[in-house]
Amino acid sequence: MGWYEAVGRRAFFSLDPERSHRLAYRLLRLPLPWRRIGGAVDDPALMTTLAGISLRNPIGLAAGFDKTCARLDALGSLGFGFVVGGTVTRAPRRGNARPRIARDPSRRALVNAMGMPNPGAEAVAHILARTARTAPRFASIADEPIADAVDTAELLEPFVDGIELNASSPNAGWEHASSHVAELVRALRARTSKPLFVKIPPFSGEDEERTRALSMATAARAAGASGIVSANTVPVVDTRMSTGRGGLSGGPLTAETPRMVAEIVAALAGEVPVVACGGVFTADDARRCLDAGAVAVQVYTALIYEGPGLLGSLTRGLAATVRTLD
Ligand SMILES: Cc1cc2nc3c(=O)[nH]c(=O)nc-3n(C[C@H](O)[C@H](O)[C@H](O)COP(=O)(O)O)c2cc1C
Repeated sequence: MGWYEAVGRRAFFSLDPERSHRLAYRLLRLPLPWRRIGGAVDDPALMTTLAGISLRNPIGLAAGFDKTCARLDALGSLGFGFVVGGTVTRAPRRGNARPRIARDPSRRALVNAMGMPNPGAEAVAHILARTARTAPRFASIADEPIADAVDTAELLEPFVDGIELNASSPNAGWEHASSHVAELVRALRARTSKPLFVKIPPFSGEDEERTRALSMATAARAAGASGIVSANTVPVVDTRMSTGRGGLSGGPLTAETPRMVAEIVAALAGEVPVVACGGVFTADDARRCLDAGAVAVQVYTALIYEGPGLLGSLTRGLAATVRTLD
């Protein structure tokens, strides 16, 4: 049993989720040997390329963990192949009222209704400008009105390797979402030549929902997106949230993620990379996503439940599966 399982998780889980996140955030500021703490192995078998960006491994940090982008340096040092900061909006946002995160330890899940709190694009650009680049980094930007999203992208773009458009707001209707996303991608594409990924909402196997999700992915691609991230949290009713609803992440998503990846890869005819996100805890989970056609995976909830040693177990396990495939 590692230190995190033995004492770290218990200490963090004795605090409410937002306080424990703040504690983790404060710790990440310390000059600790993050590389050793993460325990990631550097193995040439893990190296890959994502929309032209060279990665030391295909494991990324998903959006939402580092909303201000102030700890992307320490997080990159843990051994992530790439890190996504944000989601960032044009103006600062306080987010929804608390409570807005809850844990479900029996399912290794979280529910959140954060409402995208962040200090706004200008402040984040300043933070990024003085934060060391220890791994390729993406800025997640919100699907705001076009002028705002374009301003945000222009402010952040000089300091990142790519942009991830968070087109998964549970509030927008699907029809609106697809056309708005296509319009946004066209506007962003005209301003940046850097890789531009679109993160779509999760979709069930049910026909209508699947058709709508796949049409969002193909519309984004046709408008110039460099890749798709699949997917965001699953909308659920949850009375623990001040808003009465939230987004489910972690364990309950594990089995669905490779299915969605395979469907998107097929719909896009493999033209652009797909990044899997949702319930990846183990190297086997990551392997199933890669086998379904994903070029990389992203993790968030597993980091909360498994701690930083997750990087060691994922990289060691994946390297072993690559060798078995050889
Ligand atoms: C507390 C919390 C906050 C999140 N904030 C964001 C966000 O700001 N932008 C975004 O695109 N996704 C956000 N997400 C979603 C994650 O990036 C990811 O898509 C989702 O949690 C599924 O992956 P996981 O099961 O590995 O956590 C958030 C997730 C959590 C748990």
